[in-house]
Amino acid sequence: MNGFPEGFLWGGATAANQCEGGWDLDGKGVSCAEMCTNGAHKKPKRITRTIEPDALYPTHDGIDFYHHYKEDIAMFAEMGFKCYRFSINWTRIYPTGFEEIPNEKGLQFYENVIDECLKYGIEPLITLSHYEMPFAMCREFNGWADRRAIELFVKYAGTVLRRFKGKVKYWLTFNEINCGMLPMGNFMSLGILHPGTEDILHQVDVPQDRFQGLHHQFVASALTVRMAHEIDPDYKVGCMIAYMLSYPLTCDPGDVELARERNTVNNYYCSDVMVRGSYPYFAPRVWKENGVELNITDEDREILRAGTVDFYSHSYYMSICASCDPEKDKASGNILGGARNPYLKATAWDWQIDPMGLRIMLNEVYGRYGIPIMVVENGLGTQDTVNEDGSIDDGYRIDYLRDHIKAMKEALKDGVEIWGYTPWGCIDLVSNADGEMAKRYGFIYVDKQDDGTGSYARSRKKSFYWYKNVIATNGRDLGEEVNAG
Ligand code: BG6
Repeated sequence: MNGFPEGFLWGGATAANQCEGGWDLDGKGVSCAEMCTNGAHKKPKRITRTIEPDALYPTHDGIDFYHHYKEDIAMFAEMGFKCYRFSINWTRIYPTGFEEIPNEKGLQFYENVIDECLKYGIEPLITLSHYEMPFAMCREFNGWADRRAIELFVKYAGTVLRRFKGKVKYWLTFNEINCGMLPMGNFMSLGILHPGTEDILHQVDVPQDRFQGLHHQFVASALTVRMAHEIDPDYKVGCMIAYMLSYPLTCDPGDVELARERNTVNNYYCSDVMVRGSYPYFAPRVWKENGVELNITDEDREILRAGTVDFYSHSYYMSICASCDPEKDKASGNILGGARNPYLKATAWDWQIDPMGLRIMLNEVYGRYGIPIMVVENGLGTQDTVNEDGSIDDGYRIDYLRDHIKAMKEALKDGVEIWGYTPWGCIDLVSNADGEMAKRYGFIYVDKQDDGTGSYARSRKKSFYWYKNVIATNGRDLGEEVNAG
C-alpha cells in the first residue's frame, strides 16, 4: 500500500480558547484559560485571580475565529480537508457551569460552524473540553477536585450531544486528559487553583486533589460515552492522550526501567481506564508514591466499565530520553524535562523532532488496545518570516509533517488501523503552554502579533499548497523535494 485507506480523514485541529476570541460576547462566561496572561519560551504564563486591566490575555481575542470562521473553513475546504477538529468552549453554552438553561447564542455559534463544515463535506470532530472550563467552577469548588463537576459536565455534554445529533459523528471528551498526571495540569486541565500558585509552570500541587480530579474526569467521560451512544448509536467517542514517548538514554538497565515507568505511567494510566474500563495494575503503586487515597465508589467502577471509548486519539510532537543520572535527565529544556537525545534535532522551543517515534507509539498503542486510532495533533511550532512579497516559505514545516506522515504510512503497513490525521494549529493560533503567537503551527498565517497588534488577515503559507496536494493524492505524493528552510 503506497497511499492511505479510502476515506482517510485528512484535516486539521484547533481549540476554542486558542483561536476564537470573542471571550465575552453573546452571553459567554469566563473560562480558566482566559485567566492566563501572555508568556513566551521559558517565560511562563501567569494565572490571575481577577482580570488585570494592564495585563495582556492573548486568548481574549485569539485569532478572532469567532468572526472569521466562514473564511477559515473556506480555506480548510480549499486545502481539501475531510475533517476539522475543533472544541466547544463550555462557557459559551453554560457561562458559569451552574445555569439550568443553556445559552442559545453559544449553541447557535457552534451550529453555524458545524453547518459551514458540512457545506464543504468536512466531517466535524469535536472536543468537549480542551483546556478550559468555567472559571466560576474553579472559584466555587476548585474545579475537577470536586465531585460536583461531574454532573455539570454531563449536563453540558448532553446539551451539545442532543443539539448536534445527525450533524456530527466524532467526539472527544477531554483533550490530553493525561496532562492531569503532571503538576502543570492542575489549572490547565483540571481547573484546580491552590493558594500560592502564580504561574502555569510552578503550580502548588496537592496530588490528592489532582488524582481525585482526574478520577472525576474519567467518570464524567464514561458517563458521556454511554449517554452519547444512547442519544445516537452512530456517535463515536474517543479518548485523547498527550503521548509522551520516552527512550532509555543508554542501555543501563536503570535508564531502561525509568523509560518503561514513564511510558507506562504517563501514557497508559489514563487510556487504560478509558479504553479498558478499569484502573491498570500499576495504579495502586502510583497512588501510594504520591500519597493519594482515591475515593472510588462501586458505582464509579460500574460507570467506568460501561463507558469505554470507541477509538483512541492522541497528540504526538516529540520524544524524550530518560536517564537515571539526574543531571542528564533535566537537560532537554522542553516543558516535559528529560534527557537530550543525541540522535535528534530539536525545534527552537526545544521539542525534539522524532518522526520514527510516531510509528513506534502507534504500534505500541494498537498492540495494547486493538482499537482504531486518530492522530489528532502533530506539528511544528516555530517562528515564520513573511517575505516582502507576502509569501511564507515554511519548508521546515513541510519537512516535519512529511516525515511524520511517512511514519504513519509505515504504521499503516504494519497493520495499525488509523482513521485520520488532523495536524495541530492548521491555522496560526495562540500557543497553549506559552500563550504566544510567535510559535506558529499553521498552513495559514494570521497577522496577529504577541503585543496584540495585527490586522487578523489570513494568508497561505507554502505548506498550504503542499498539504493540499498531499490530501488530493490521499498521501501518495508527499512532495519529495528537500526543504532546507
Ligand atoms: C497540545 C495541546 O498540548 O499541544 C494544544 O492540546 C497545544 O492545545 C499543542 O496548543 C501545542 O502546544 P503549544 O504549547 O506549542 O501550543
